[in-house]
Amino acid sequence: MAISDFDLVFFGGSGDLAMRKLLPAMYARDVANDLPASARIICVGREDMSQDDFLKMVETNAKPNVKEAVIDAAWQKFLSRITWVAVDAVNLQSFNGLVEALRKDEGLTRVYYLATPPSLFATICDNLAASGLATANSRVVLEKPLGRDLESAKQINADVGKVFAESQIYRIDHYLGKETVQNLLALRFGNILFEPLWRREWISDVQITIAEKIGVGNRLGYYDTSGALRDMLQNHLLQLLCIVAMEPPTSISPDAVRDAKLQVLRSLKRFTPTTLSQNIIRGQYRNGYVDGQQVPGYREEPGAPKQSKTETFVAMKAEIDTWRWAGVPFYLRTGKRMADRLAEIVVRFKPIPHSIFNQPTSSFQPNSLVIRLQPDEGLSLNLMAKTPGDSMRLKQAELELDFREQFKAPRMEAYERLLLDVLRGQLTLFMRGDELEAAWDWVEPILDYWDQDDNSPVPYSSGTWGPAASSALIGRDGLQWREEALPED
Ligand code: BG6
Repeated sequence: MAISDFDLVFFGGSGDLAMRKLLPAMYARDVANDLPASARIICVGREDMSQDDFLKMVETNAKPNVKEAVIDAAWQKFLSRITWVAVDAVNLQSFNGLVEALRKDEGLTRVYYLATPPSLFATICDNLAASGLATANSRVVLEKPLGRDLESAKQINADVGKVFAESQIYRIDHYLGKETVQNLLALRFGNILFEPLWRREWISDVQITIAEKIGVGNRLGYYDTSGALRDMLQNHLLQLLCIVAMEPPTSISPDAVRDAKLQVLRSLKRFTPTTLSQNIIRGQYRNGYVDGQQVPGYREEPGAPKQSKTETFVAMKAEIDTWRWAGVPFYLRTGKRMADRLAEIVVRFKPIPHSIFNQPTSSFQPNSLVIRLQPDEGLSLNLMAKTPGDSMRLKQAELELDFREQFKAPRMEAYERLLLDVLRGQLTLFMRGDELEAAWDWVEPILDYWDQDDNSPVPYSSGTWGPAASSALIGRDGLQWREEALPED
C-alpha cells in the first residue's frame, strides 16, 4: 500500500532513540523508495540549536546506525527532508514554531511520535490540541515505558485519549515489528498443520526466552527504577505469549487481532503471594565474563545504588485459564548479561503414547518446534527419524527453515516496519489501550509483592543463563530450558 504525503514529527528528536533507531529507519525506507517525494520529518526538542547544528548531529549520531552502506546522494536527499524545531514541550507558546513548520494542507497525514519520557505525554498532547495541531488526520505514536504500573498506564491512556481517538493512537512494542513475530502468525494461521495440535491435548509446555548479552549500559537511571519485569516481561514477552496462545482471529484487522490478544491477557492465571513465591524467580547479575571480556556486576555499574534490588533477570511459570491451554505451563524468561543473545519460542509437544520399536518410549524426544527471532530468524521442527543402516534405531533430527536463506528479499528492521505501518494507518501491530491495561493488571501483584519483599534478587554470574533457581523452577516439572537440554558440542 502506497504511503500518502506526510509530516512526521519526532518529539525527543535529538534523543537516543531518534538517533539510534528512528532516523536510521526512515533513511532505510527512503532509500527503498517508500516515502513520497515531498514527505517531511520534523525533529523537535528543547535545545536551542540551528538547523545546521542539528544536521551535524544527525551526521555524527544517526548515520553510523544505518545498517547498510550509506549512499551519499540518498543521504543528502534524506537530510533535505529534515527540519529541526526547538520546542519546549511544557511551554505552549513554544509550539508556535511547530505550527509554522507544519504544512497546512488538510489532506496531509500528520504523525506525532512521542519518543520522550511518558511524564510528558499528557502535556504534549494538551499543547498539540491547544495549538490546533491535533487534527482528524493526525496520529500519535507512544514509546515505552507506557506506565510503570496499572494506575500510571490508565493515566496515560486517559490523558492521550482526551486529545486523540483510540484509532489515532499507536502504542509501540518493537517486538511486534520483528519479522519472526509476524511469521508466527503466518505459521499458525497460514498452515493447516499446526492449528489442530495447538492445544493442551498435544502441547506439553511452551518456553519463551529473550536473553541479552548486554548489561544496562548508560540507561541505569531509567533501568534502576524499572527492572526486567517492567522493561521486558510486561510488554515484549507478554506480546509474544499472546501471539503464541491467542485464538484464531477472524481476520488480520487491528481489532480482530487485538481482541484475540486481549482474551489471552485476561485469561492469565493471577498470582497470589504463595503461587508467586513458588513460580517466579528474580535475579541480578554479578560480575563475570561475556564473550571472554570481564564485565562488572549490576551494583558496580556507574551510578548504581550499592544495595539496588532491581532485577535484571526474571523467570516464571505462567498459566492460561482457558479450555485450550488449561494446565499447560508457559515458562517465560528474560535477562541481561546472559550467556548468549537469543530470543526464541519453544513449543514442546507431548510424548508418543507407545513405542512399537525396540526402544523404550522414554528414548523418544518429544517433537518440538523452535521459533527463533534472534539472532537469526527461522524455525526448526524436531522430529524422530531412523538412523541410516541396518538396525531400526530412531534419533532426533531437525527440519530447518532459515528465513534469510529461504527468502532472499531485503529485510526490514522492526522500527522500519512499524514506522511504515503508522504512516499507512495500519494498527494491527500496535497495542490497544485495554491490552496495555490488562498486561499491567496481571503484572501488578508481582510488583506489589516484590515491593514488600525484603529479599534481594538472586545473584547470577554475568555470562551465564541466570540463577540456578531458574533451572530448578522448570526442573521441578521434570523439564529443562532448551539450551540445558541440548547435547554438548
Ligand atoms: C527494549 C528494552 O525495549 O528492548 C531494552 O528497554 C532491551 O532494555 C531491548 O535491551 C531489547 O530489544 P532487542 O530488539 O535488541 O531484543
